[in-house]
Amino acid sequence: MNAPSSAPGSQPLVEAKGLTRVFGHGANAVRAVDDVSFTLGRQEVVTIVGESGSGKSTLARLVLRLLEPTGGTLHLAGRDVTALKGRELRSYWRDVQAVFQDPFSSFNQFFTVRRLLGRSLRLATGTGGDQGETMMTQALEHVGLTGADVLDKWPHQLSGGQRQRVMIARALMMQPRILVADEATSMLDASLRANILNVLGDLRRDHDMTILFITHDIGQACYVSDRVLVMCQGELVEHGPTDQVIFDPQHEYTRRLLADVPRLHENILD
Ligand SMILES: Nc1ncnc2c1ncn2[C@@H]1O[C@H](COP(=O)(O)OP(=O)(O)O)[C@@H](O)[C@H]1O
Ligand SMILES: [Mg+2]
Repeated sequence: MNAPSSAPGSQPLVEAKGLTRVFGHGANAVRAVDDVSFTLGRQEVVTIVGESGSGKSTLARLVLRLLEPTGGTLHLAGRDVTALKGRELRSYWRDVQAVFQDPFSSFNQFFTVRRLLGRSLRLATGTGGDQGETMMTQALEHVGLTGADVLDKWPHQLSGGQRQRVMIARALMMQPRILVADEATSMLDASLRANILNVLGDLRRDHDMTILFITHDIGQACYVSDRVLVMCQGELVEHGPTDQVIFDPQHEYTRRLLADVPRLHENILD
């Protein structure tokens, strides 16, 4: 399959070619990500959709460089990501931030929001004191949480949605070029989810950010994304502009995913 690409003529920010990750050996080997090629353009929101076990999180971890590929290449702005070491790798880990599914597990129960955000900010950028406080407050405001009050909260004093927004704020403070959101809205109720998807949509414009949005629910893809990539058993089986994939799916597997979202078409047309 040809690599799905962003708008013609635009230089992709991320370019993955033949990315492959195998777990285990011999008869037990699992090709979690199998020869996957795609690009992400600047300020693009691209959704990766697929059933549980289709390889989405493995792909996310490859893009985040938390995992080494078994094969294939990954480039950010023309640079080979797999070759990065030391300071360059730490800089990559600032440029590419992640928000995962369960905001509670990624939250230290013994840290207030101020301490959690402050620590991340100091480690990544060396910023602290009043300047750090201002950056934290601004990041929280971007996700619709008004600062000073939230900063003094403990995790258990926040709702699931608030915790997830704190985690998005934490990612934002690093001013990443790419935000990888892996099932980041899956645990939220519908109205909160729509709210966070809108926040993400605004961010890519205001912060010149590229978003890789990962979900098992193709119904979520239509809210935010420019393009959709469909994964099945480690492979990319379909890709295209969001409307095209949703209204004119080419692959049987995509049709099946859509069939599981009976109200999707009504929602779009409402
Ligand atoms: N660390 C690992 N060791 C062995 N197998 C793994 C590991 N991580 C993922 N897998 C396997 O790879 C496949 C894809 O998993 P994953 O990327 O988590 O899919 P998804 O995020 O789409 O649910 C699954 O079969 C899973 O069991
Ligand atoms: Mg996953």
